[in-house]
Amino acid sequence: MSGPNGMLYGGDEIGALVFDPGHHSLRVGYAQEDTPKADIPAVIGVGPATHIPDAEEKVPDGNVTQSGTKAGNELRHYIDVTELHVARPGMEVQTYMKDGQVDNWDLFEKMLDYCYAKVIRSPSEHHPALFTEAVWTTRPAREKLAELLFEKYQAPAFFLVKNAVLAAFANGKSTALVVDAGASQTSAVPVIDGYALVSAAVRSPVGGDHLAAQAKAMLGSMHIQMLPIYSIQSKEVIRERERARYTLKTLPAGLTHSWQQYMLKRQYEDFCHCVAQVSESAYDERTAASVPGLHYEFPGGYHQDFGPERFKLTECFFEQSLGAPHLVCAAASSCDADARPALWGSVVACGGVANTPGYLDRLTKELASRAPSSHRLKSHAAPSPAERRFAAWIGGSILASIGSFQQMWISSQEYDEGGKGQLERKCP
Ligand SMILES: Nc1ncnc2c1ncn2[C@@H]1O[C@H](COP(=O)(O)OP(=O)(O)OP(=O)(O)O)[C@@H](O)[C@H]1O
Ligand SMILES: [Mg+2]
Repeated sequence: MSGPNGMLYGGDEIGALVFDPGHHSLRVGYAQEDTPKADIPAVIGVGPATHIPDAEEKVPDGNVTQSGTKAGNELRHYIDVTELHVARPGMEVQTYMKDGQVDNWDLFEKMLDYCYAKVIRSPSEHHPALFTEAVWTTRPAREKLAELLFEKYQAPAFFLVKNAVLAAFANGKSTALVVDAGASQTSAVPVIDGYALVSAAVRSPVGGDHLAAQAKAMLGSMHIQMLPIYSIQSKEVIRERERARYTLKTLPAGLTHSWQQYMLKRQYEDFCHCVAQVSESAYDERTAASVPGLHYEFPGGYHQDFGPERFKLTECFFEQSLGAPHLVCAAASSCDADARPALWGSVVACGGVANTPGYLDRLTKELASRAPSSHRLKSHAAPSPAERRFAAWIGGSILASIGSFQQMWISSQEYDEGGKGQLERKCP
């Protein structure tokens, strides 16, 4: 299918791009591919340029610095782990996300600039752009995004799709009750024939960030110190539970609180990914204690086995009023009675947290005890961790490459003629 200007949006001629912004990371890559090309932390380091040449140092053709830049005034943006994880004096860590949607547009533009220049390495005006959005995204935020893509980035075409719809597609379904356990929240969204029922969607703030905070509190109460990995010069091999012996690096002065907290959060996340597990049924100390422990070594060298704590940590995901089972029940019961059997028959779990071992089994078990007896419960999650975490991106990649979708894009010409009103009409 050709666009109004004769270009084929989805086929081989032009690579459509899929962007999936989340609180934890932004996934970006070409439609038709299996996984995103990049998975970039959703935070940006903002700080003074590490080295600003003096006027005399400028090369004649002006390649080194912009003219008129005064030493000390220029702020640089550090994006993605190789830049962000460097200990830089004065670099603050900021996010452009708030409450499930883009909130700081200046920062988000820096991220998009980076995506086009360093990840896609191709001009934005060559690529139709499909963005995922949370069901709660407000109208001003949707309009701002369309404006940015068409006006600043000159995208030939643009489209917005609810991430729950795309996660259902990625799991081969057009009707599903999608449980998305992400970083900032867990949500349950009914999707019927490819449309998200926004009014029936529910969410709770219990997600991966909450788990990391719980892990921090738990380790604190166990008097286990999480030393920043970047502060360790060397460590000695020690026996289990022995006091750590390490030497510290001399760090540059002026490291910001926000950067240090961000780096520590990544370490608590790592601890959770390695250690946390969901128990089969509600936490029971004796059952949990009968499962062999898991070993974890901290950056300073301290190491020990973790037993029941691993299961205790994840109970928050199944808690009475904020847990995923409750969200699923609340979302299903807000739907028409005749839609409910299909939803209960197609519960799809996705998001990074759905990778916690045991998550799907426990969710299924909890739902089985709550599902109306007249409905047959079937739950599903993609087999691989990447497919779970990238579900919405993968769904976007599939959608943007199917033939019948090509007429759905909002073309730049339609946008020029119809303005932002196109958005509500074409991307409900
Ligand atoms: N293998 C894993 N096991 C457990 N948790 C994981 C795993 N991989 C990622 N996570 C957690 O999942 C979360 C990220 O999930 P996801 O990528 O779905 O979030 P997001 O879409 O960026 O955020 P949000 O949906 O809140 O906007 C993080 O909190 C991360 O720690
Ligand atoms: Mg998400």
